[in-house]
Amino acid sequence: MKKLEVFGVVKLKGQITISGSKNASLPILAATLLSNKKISLNNLPKVKDIETMISLLKSLGSIVEYNKKTINIKNNKQVKTFASYSLVKTMRAGILVLGPLLAKFGKAKVSLPGGCAIGTRPVDIHLEALSKLGVKYKIIQGYVHANAPKGLIGANIKFPKISVGATENLIIAACLAKGKTILSNCAIEPEIKDLVNFLKKMGCNIKWTTKRTIKIKGVNTVNELDYKVMADRIEAGTYLIAAALTEGNLKIRGINPKIINTEINILKKIGAKITQKKNEIVIQGSKKIKNINIKTAPYPGFPTDLQAQMMVLLCKANKKSYIREEIFENRFMHVAELNRMGAKISIKGNKATIQGNIKFKAAELMATDLRASVSLILAAITSKGKSIINRIYHLDRGYEDIEKKLNKVGAKIKRIN
Ligand code: EPZ
Repeated sequence: MKKLEVFGVVKLKGQITISGSKNASLPILAATLLSNKKISLNNLPKVKDIETMISLLKSLGSIVEYNKKTINIKNNKQVKTFASYSLVKTMRAGILVLGPLLAKFGKAKVSLPGGCAIGTRPVDIHLEALSKLGVKYKIIQGYVHANAPKGLIGANIKFPKISVGATENLIIAACLAKGKTILSNCAIEPEIKDLVNFLKKMGCNIKWTTKRTIKIKGVNTVNELDYKVMADRIEAGTYLIAAALTEGNLKIRGINPKIINTEINILKKIGAKITQKKNEIVIQGSKKIKNINIKTAPYPGFPTDLQAQMMVLLCKANKKSYIREEIFENRFMHVAELNRMGAKISIKGNKATIQGNIKFKAAELMATDLRASVSLILAAITSKGKSIINRIYHLDRGYEDIEKKLNKVGAKIKRIN
């Protein structure tokens, strides 16, 4: 089992280029199932979840060729509509093939994702909304058996709760439905905007009519296209927090600052000096880190995917802070590990109380989920001595070349077997 050896204390200084967004790439890869034409995708991050999604597409019959940083996908022989548990269980975004398979073939058997460390990850909102497009489904032995005998029929659907995945699944499905679909109370994360841009370039008829309402008119044919996936705002936010944490000075390149405005404003409030250009952000961490209270929320609120990383930063603040996790029911798995490093964090329901002025101590640690694992790296680079982080397969699901990128700006991280 691979581990990371992390030596502290370091100050990060230099330049980091952001990779493609995992959470934009996954729905876009699923959406390629709508097409029989050649699709070339650029800037996909080299991370495990992308490999898993590509294996899932191949298991459905997609032909996938790699050409350096470009992936060419063709589905003309695409005949299977079965997405197996073995693939979906390790990457919950596998449920995103349900919408396109139903749209294209009128039937699908897709494994329920199952839970993970951060929560039970239900898909009831996806299924209820798909049934409004004419889908009939049954859950049998952990699989969704779905079909739409008359094909998908456009409808007006209001999501009962904001859900990134359900919004993506329904947007993709509605692209080939007969007639018009209006989706309201949609999630509007930048990754969803990137998916919509991809689908429009593919020839789909989609228009945002209000902030959280989208209108989709089904089409019969789609085009060949090549598309460059957007940069990863969570990766960018992680490195910004790393700079603030180590009183470092980083230039983060390849990211549009506008899509992480909330995070930038919070880091400025905490005391970091930040300047930004069209496609880059320069951050200088401050000696004094001011405390702040945060609650996670759907975009444009503070992202739940940066909650663990921000918690590490607030341990170094001058006073007590609070974080409320409003999106997932169990996203404090990193707290126990941080407390073993000397943090003083207490949990009551979905609220964490974080004592400030903490001096982290190096320790042997266990990663539990993707974002928790990166928070342990952040704590370890500010801890005197050598920390070991186990189960880093969690990390490799979503951060491309993380130790290479951090070592280039002064970290001392070694991957060991
Ligand atoms: C996406 O997950 C992201 N994953 C998550 O990132 C991210 O944390 C999350 O959105 C919130 O921003 C990808 O994009 C691949 P949701 P998703 O549907 O779509 C509940 C990472 O670290 N819910 O917006 O699964 C759900 O349990 C990952 O990169 C239902 O109850 O999130 C959660 O409490 C982790 N029923 C809340 O809604 C449903 O049918 C938000 O979930 C669907 C969701």
